[in-house]
Amino acid sequence: MNPIEILARHHDPASPTFEILVVHSTLVARKALEIARGWSERHPEESLDLDFLSEAALLHDIGIGLCEAPELHCSGTEPYLCHGILGRGLLEKEGLPLHALVCERHTGAGITAAEVRGGGLPLPERDYLPVSPEEKIICVADKFYSKKPTRLWREKEPAAIARSMDRWGQEVRTRWDALASTFLGS
Ligand SMILES: [Fe+2]
Repeated sequence: MNPIEILARHHDPASPTFEILVVHSTLVARKALEIARGWSERHPEESLDLDFLSEAALLHDIGIGLCEAPELHCSGTEPYLCHGILGRGLLEKEGLPLHALVCERHTGAGITAAEVRGGGLPLPERDYLPVSPEEKIICVADKFYSKKPTRLWREKEPAAIARSMDRWGQEVRTRWDALASTFLGS
């Protein structure tokens, strides 16, 4: 399967959104593989599916085109926060149920049902937490890169990512710190 071809089926390949998506997703896939390499060295007993990791990293944001996000040139109607569940729907239709779960579980440091309820978030009330090591690695790798066109290529510092989690509250920060300590060895 060719993830870029799948992205191109759901976004006009001549559009700025497609370009943003391909650059961002490629950077995230590269970072995910780098994180995977470090993690595997520290945990030789664990095995990762690197093909799946790279495919799912390339596809994780496929839902953005259905959202309203003018700065990403996305002219959909759904709230941006829904890009994960929308991506899940697209990839399930593509016959990729496991890649679909990565879409749904990569936002922030994951989102709990309690956070959906407490924050009045526009999502069905359930947990959106990364579960498998591959899901967790893509969630972590994604935080290193913005999709904002002016900052697309710039890799963030781990400390800046951690600080940015504070605005979602202590629980989210603690969840991020656990992911970072497992997968970044920090
Ligand atoms: Fe992303």
